[in-house]
Amino acid sequence: MDLTLEHARALDAADPLAAHRDRFVHHDDVVYLDGNSLGRLPRATPDALAHVVREQWGAGLIRSWPAWLEEARSTADLLGRVVLGVDAGQVHVGDSTTVSLYRLAVAAVRARPGRTRILVEADAFPTDLYVLDGVARDHGMELVRIDAPIDDGVRDEHLVPLLDDTVALVCLSQVHYRSGALLDLAGLTALAHDVGALVLWDLCHSAGAVEVPLAASGADLAVGCTYKYLNAGPGAPAFSYVRADLLPTMRSPIQGWFAQTDQFAMAPGFDPVAGIDRIAAGTPDVRGIVAVREGVRTIEAAGVQALREKGSALGAYVVALADAWLEPLGFRVASPRDDALRGAHVVLEHPEAWQACQAWIDAGVVPDFRTPDRLRIGLAALTTSFEDVWTGLDRLRTIVGIGAHHGYSTERGRVT
Ligand SMILES: Cc1ncc(COP(=O)(O)O)c(C=O)c1O
Repeated sequence: MDLTLEHARALDAADPLAAHRDRFVHHDDVVYLDGNSLGRLPRATPDALAHVVREQWGAGLIRSWPAWLEEARSTADLLGRVVLGVDAGQVHVGDSTTVSLYRLAVAAVRARPGRTRILVEADAFPTDLYVLDGVARDHGMELVRIDAPIDDGVRDEHLVPLLDDTVALVCLSQVHYRSGALLDLAGLTALAHDVGALVLWDLCHSAGAVEVPLAASGADLAVGCTYKYLNAGPGAPAFSYVRADLLPTMRSPIQGWFAQTDQFAMAPGFDPVAGIDRIAAGTPDVRGIVAVREGVRTIEAAGVQALREKGSALGAYVVALADAWLEPLGFRVASPRDDALRGAHVVLEHPEAWQACQAWIDAGVVPDFRTPDRLRIGLAALTTSFEDVWTGLDRLRTIVGIGAHHGYSTERGRVT
């Protein structure tokens, strides 16, 4: 591959998504390689939020609720159609990913009474491990960790030996947060279904970055956040997916009034609606939902397939530059090299990654750091250019090449 800056610019010139970059706010010339942690601000979002606050809240006051409830439903369906490729009525938007995961995990184990085990990837995102540990304890179940190499993630051979009819639930991330490994959602779901288990997918690092074959695979349940590739902003509400035919069997542990049939009858007994809102809890975060709508519209304008293609191309470009420039400096590509097995972030491991990360930030590049020694390079197809990648990795090779990172603390903390 041609590794010159001119070639990076030529790749940008030929990029069919290049024009989408202008739909986002770019304040300074920072090289932002962290769109997989917090996506950029869409230009349309501030005005959309101002409308909700000034007109609908300020002027409309409580009379705006019918429109807000309609907004909550239509945004959930929009996200389902655009990002997850599923029919309406199966997605709920609200609460955090952590709360959503808890809610669906409990509903799932309740739907498989008598089964005693929950399986989770050993290197799952910590909140998933914590939540499932609590769910297992509270239900007298065993939490079993699926061991798999971090870089490549869970494949059939890691899951199959653990599957039998004692398994109620399997929880996996479609794209692994620490390596970018992209799992076979359809194949792993089918294996779990063979023993009658339900599967709950964490889509935080895949929604808006890769195709999510929920419908085609008959996947059961999924959750994900909206502040990464969906560009809905810090703390924006998460989404939950429940396959329509499972809804009657899903009983949320949070029996809130927004799930109640004829909510304003104010009846004392809980009688949830039949549809997806049976997993709702309390009053929806309207401002957050409007930000989700605007974020999802940025995905809709490009299409998930085009995003996936560009994300793969950017990833392959990172790997090529890393092999040529960074491998001689002690870096190792800690993500699958095969584009088909990798999501939209690439991880570089280096024994001094923590120091390199701080020096990199001071050099105007924003990456992410993940333990133990990993620099995570997020490639948000809508906003990351090939030139960003070239410039970012060029600065990293300079820093580590001259040892500038040695001037930084080895004491770890939060950098981004
Ligand atoms: C894979 C994964 N799962 C779960 C979470 C937790 O999300 P939240 O903080 O929105 O509950 C994150 C957050 O980054 C994540 O990356």
